Amino acid sequence: MKYLFELGRQPEISTAELKAVFSHKNIELKNPITKSHFLTAEIDEDIDTKHIAKNLGGTMKIGQAIKNVGDPIKSIVHFLHENNSGKIHFAVSGEVTKKTGIAIKKQLKSLGRSVRFVETKNTASILHNNLVEKKSDFTVLENEIFVTEAIQDIEGFTKRDFGRPGSDDKSGMLPPKLARIMINLSEIKPTDTLLDPFCGSGTVLTEALSLGFENILGSDISQKAIDDTKQNVEWLNKKFDLTPKTFDLYTSDAGKLSTHIKPNTVHAIVSEPYMGKPLRGNENKETLKKQAKELGQLYIESFTAFHKILKKDGVAIFIIPKFRHEDKWISIDCLDEIKKIGFEILPLAPRPEKREMKGVDSLTYWRTKQYVGRERWKFKKR
Ligand SMILES: C[S@@+](CC[C@H](N)C(=O)[O-])C[C@H]1O[C@@H](n2cnc3c(N)ncnc32)[C@H](O)[C@@H]1O
Repeated sequence: MKYLFELGRQPEISTAELKAVFSHKNIELKNPITKSHFLTAEIDEDIDTKHIAKNLGGTMKIGQAIKNVGDPIKSIVHFLHENNSGKIHFAVSGEVTKKTGIAIKKQLKSLGRSVRFVETKNTASILHNNLVEKKSDFTVLENEIFVTEAIQDIEGFTKRDFGRPGSDDKSGMLPPKLARIMINLSEIKPTDTLLDPFCGSGTVLTEALSLGFENILGSDISQKAIDDTKQNVEWLNKKFDLTPKTFDLYTSDAGKLSTHIKPNTVHAIVSEPYMGKPLRGNENKETLKKQAKELGQLYIESFTAFHKILKKDGVAIFIIPKFRHEDKWISIDCLDEIKKIGFEILPLAPRPEKREMKGVDSLTYWRTKQYVGRERWKFKKR
């Protein structure tokens, strides 16, 4: 069957997440094609799209191809007429305009059907109009039509965010969807042990918990961060009855973690580390270079400790920032040292059409006007 995945704001990292999740399930995504913020692929096995969509951080919706009986309008009219009783509510998006929706509505009316064309602006409108249950949200892409089978668990993300006690400084918080993507990129099992050594208010850990991870560890140099994480995890335990088997927190410098955690015990480290002082954009080159050097030192010390506590073949999904100065990047020079410590870099898959590109191992996230770019890396302990 052919499937369509509507990707989130960062299509490259969403694609990498999808590939990691399917490869972990031993399911092949055949002929993957990315077009703007969509990925289509053939999948031979039966897949539980609802379960998969619920666990992904970077995919907005999953659709399955329907029969094309000539053109998209005819096909959607045919599908809706066959599969819906009573009043039909439907939406259509992708490479079509409002005109397509109006034409579908007109044809259904001429068949004697009562019908409403819902102009969906986002995934929330699909949810609120129950279009997944009604099998009546369609995406048209290159003359192929996909009916939406599942959408992202937007309600879950909102519930986990709303009322969270220990997150006074949201600006320093990793977005939960991104935390989830990073956990999925690690490709570890929920029974494995996951550590965030710069846990802040605990977003990676709470997302891991909500994904069903049973053994979670967190550490941070700040006692306040540890208190926030403790509060947030306990709150999530109560609210959703999610109780980890192991949940240990340490107030520690990341470089000293091996004094707290036993050697060869952690399966994955997933972290957005300390990335230096927030930048205003008016810092001079020397200041930025100094910050890059200090952070490089911190990451090298941290990876020395990670190497001790990770199991063999254990992985680290880690963000390394780079700083913008007068249209150029000031990068942190630490990769060679991290390799020397005993890590190899696993490429985070580039988009299929860029596959021939060499050296695309990390995925960078940077928005124009931001002074910090975030490179996501996957390391494996040798
Ligand atoms: C970017 S925040 C992490 C945010 C976190 N991922 C979240 O989503 O809530 C960075 C954290 O690193 C911590 N930190 C700074 N230097 C550290 C060090 N040397 N070792 C461990 N933690 C450190 C800070 O206290 C801060 O909580």
